[in-house]
Formats: sequence, C-alpha cells, structure tokens
Amino acid sequence: MGVTIYTATMNKTDKILVAGAAGMVGSAIVRALVKDGYQNITGTYRNRKPAFQSEKVDYLKIDLMNQEATAEMYKTLAPDFVFYAAAKVGGIVANNTYRAEFLYDNLMIQNNIVHQAYLAGVKKMLFLGSSCIYPKHAPQPIKEEYLLTGLLEYTNEPYAIAKIAGLKLCENYNIQYGTNYISAMPTNLYGPEDNYDLQNSHVLPALIRKFHEAKISKAEKVIIWGTGSPLREFMHVDDLANACVFLMNTYEGNKFVNLGWGEDISIKDLAILIKNVVGFEGELFFDTSKPDGTPRKLLDVSFMRSLGFHPSIRLEEGIKNTYADFLRKFQQ
Ligand SMILES: NC(=O)c1ccc[n+]([C@@H]2O[C@H](COP(=O)([O-])OP(=O)(O)OC[C@H]3O[C@@H](n4cnc5c(N)ncnc54)[C@H](OP(=O)(O)O)[C@@H]3O)[C@@H](O)[C@H]2O)c1
Repeated sequence: MGVTIYTATMNKTDKILVAGAAGMVGSAIVRALVKDGYQNITGTYRNRKPAFQSEKVDYLKIDLMNQEATAEMYKTLAPDFVFYAAAKVGGIVANNTYRAEFLYDNLMIQNNIVHQAYLAGVKKMLFLGSSCIYPKHAPQPIKEEYLLTGLLEYTNEPYAIAKIAGLKLCENYNIQYGTNYISAMPTNLYGPEDNYDLQNSHVLPALIRKFHEAKISKAEKVIIWGTGSPLREFMHVDDLANACVFLMNTYEGNKFVNLGWGEDISIKDLAILIKNVVGFEGELFFDTSKPDGTPRKLLDVSFMRSLGFHPSIRLEEGIKNTYADFLRKFQQ
C-alpha cells in the first residue's frame, strides 16, 4: 500500500467525529469545537447521555467495541477528523479490580477506532492516552522520551498497556500506511462532567464530593488517605480540549505530546483549596495508616509549550467552576 502524507487543518464545515462525547474529555472537546465555530460535529456515546446540546452537534449511540458497528459508523458519517476520547476509565480501585476489562475494552475500542479510520480514509485523528503510560519510577518531571524505560505501576498496568498499544498503533499506522494520527498524553484532568462516584473517581472530584457532603452533614472532620505530602499535577478539561483542537490544527508527527499545567501541588494544599471553595468549616484529618502512592507525578510540558500551547485556567478558578457544575448536577 502506498504512503500518503496528509497535511490537514480543520475547516469549519469539515465533518468532525468526537468518540466518547458524553465523557468529561469528549464533552469538553465538543464544547470547544462549537465555541470555535465548527459546524458539522458528531459525538458518540454509549450508556451515559451527552449533557451538552447544540444545533452544530449530532449524537450517535454506539458500542465502539463492536467492529461492524464501528465500520458502519465510519461509512455513514465519513468523518474528516476524529478526536478519540472514548475509553474505559476509572480511579485506582476500579483499575485494580476490573483489570481484565480495562485491558480488553480499551484494546477493542482503539483497534476498532484506529483501524476503521484507516480503512475509511480519515484525514487526521487525535488519540488520547494518559500520563499513567510512564514507568512508576520515571525521573521528574516526566519527558515523553521516558516511555518504555521501566516497569509500570502494577495497579493500573492493564490500562497503561492498552494506552501504550494505542499510541503505538497510531505511530505504526503512520509509518506503514501514511496515516496522519497524533497522540496526546494528558496529566490528571478535572472539570465539568467529571465522575463523583467515590468507588470509581479520581482524587480531585472525590475530594469535592467528600467536602460537600461533610459541609451538608455539618461533620467535624474530613478524613484524607495518606500524609497529604504527595505532589500531583492537575489541568482543567477546558484547557485540555483547547489543546486538542490546537494540536489537530497545528501539529503532525509521531512524537506524542504531554499535556499538562507544568506545576504540581501537594494533596494537602489541594485539599485546603477545595475545602475553602466548598466552604467546609471543619478539620482535615490525614490517615497516615493509608498508603501515599508515588511521591511525585509531574509531566514535562516543554514540548507542548514549544508547539505554542499554554493552558490558562488556574487551579482555584477551575475548582470553583467544577464545584458549580457539581452543585448543578447534585441539586437537580
Ligand atoms: N479523566 C482524567 O483525569 C484523564 C487524564 C488523562 C487522560 N484521560 C483520557 O481521556 C480520555 C477520556 O477520559 P474521560 O475522563 O473523559 O473519561 P469518561 O468521562 O469516563 O468518558 C469516557 C467515555 O467513553 C465511553 N465509552 C467507554 N466504553 C465505550 C464503548 N465500548 N463504546 C462507546 N463508548 C464507550 C463512555 O461511555 P459510557 O459511560 O456511556 O459507557 C464515556 O462516556 C481517556 O482516554 C483517558 O485516558 C483522562
């Protein structure tokens, strides 16, 4: 098969597919595209229904693990550009409990999305991975080059292996078939449409929910696992969505791109910030009998910056906006 190199920038009327459009990331990408004037967007969803509605967006219900349905979707929609934000996603407990599902589902979805896009002649695709692809003991801040230089964190190894396979799928389809697929690895994200289920959520939305419930019940204290000393980085999902649109329009290449804020914060300081935004007046209690996890996880985002993208939503502002979204949802 001959190699075709596409140079592709999205026109406002191009057909754009956002896979996983009811999710936190996919819905933010749809909002960013509409805000930027794109007019011909289709978002896919499976069970959860998309909250964002616009005349510029159609939604399609589909299980992307189904190869035939995915092929049919590409045939019917003939998208020019694809943002790939559908995945089985969860916090540490879910990752470690549903290990087979995290590996199988994510491999199935991405094989279908990537291979069928190639068969359908999609002009360009952005694949979203995650910072958990990096070795557990990677030097900090983590550069893109540290991929596959050491062992992964065991609790999320299945998810990370699937994401590594996904970005390698994109890289190697580019090399063998001349496709134009790019990949981005975001840091921890937060924002509207996040998951607040305590069994299954990430640290920031879990803290928002815990502090909110403690405020309502007038609890004296909120218990936080560990010492509070680990350092983590957070990026608002609207910044991430703008970065994805930016990369789709400006970047081509096999080197994937770390996306993050570029600074980290201790879990203790994060908890104090959220406590203040939520307005909880009790105490924080750090349960030091519980594990801390990796001491620090910060992405090196110099490549992202060199491409010309800079996030703009500071953590306090982002948490206020996310708490407002939480209240809208939970007070309905
Ligand atoms: N959240 C973060 O902090 C974070 C950080 C770094 C990277 N990312 C990446 O961003 C991407 C999206 O994450 P997210 O946080 O937006 O997750 P999310 O809110 O759970 O959204 C993922 C969406 O994918 C859909 N999906 C799952 N399995 C599907 C299937 N078989 N067929 C069709 N749709 C399916 C889900 O639909 P249903 O719920 O209806 O099944 C869900 O709406 C992932 O690749 C993730 O690795 C996220």
